[in-house]
Amino acid sequence: MKRIGKQQVALLTDIADPGAREFESGSRDDSVPGFVVRKNGRVFAYVNICPHAGRSLNWGPDRFLTRDNGLIMCAGHGALFEIDSGLCIAGACLGARLTSLEVEVIDGRVLVGLPAPAETKT
Ligand code: FES
Repeated sequence: MKRIGKQQVALLTDIADPGAREFESGSRDDSVPGFVVRKNGRVFAYVNICPHAGRSLNWGPDRFLTRDNGLIMCAGHGALFEIDSGLCIAGACLGARLTSLEVEVIDGRVLVGLPAPAETKT
């Protein structure tokens, strides 16, 4: 997979645990919508495009998780995804996966490896 490099998308201290943070990264013409999820001290990153109908998953700014913070929930039609794998376990895209992104935390900075824009399609 072609990469356009790792970019800082947030500071770890800006993301609740559990919690999520939306980001838009890349250049103006080829931005990549994404989000990071923090849970139990681990951080995961995904492209913010639902594999069902291509909508953004969040139902408000930085709101990606179910009420109990146990799963990612799509605002479109309610599909549910595992936080650690992006696997859809209920809903219209059962068995599909969110597009995961490489993520690492260095010195409190959350860095995400962004794919080339053509590779963000689901
Ligand atoms: S767009 Fe996500 S469940 Fe339909």
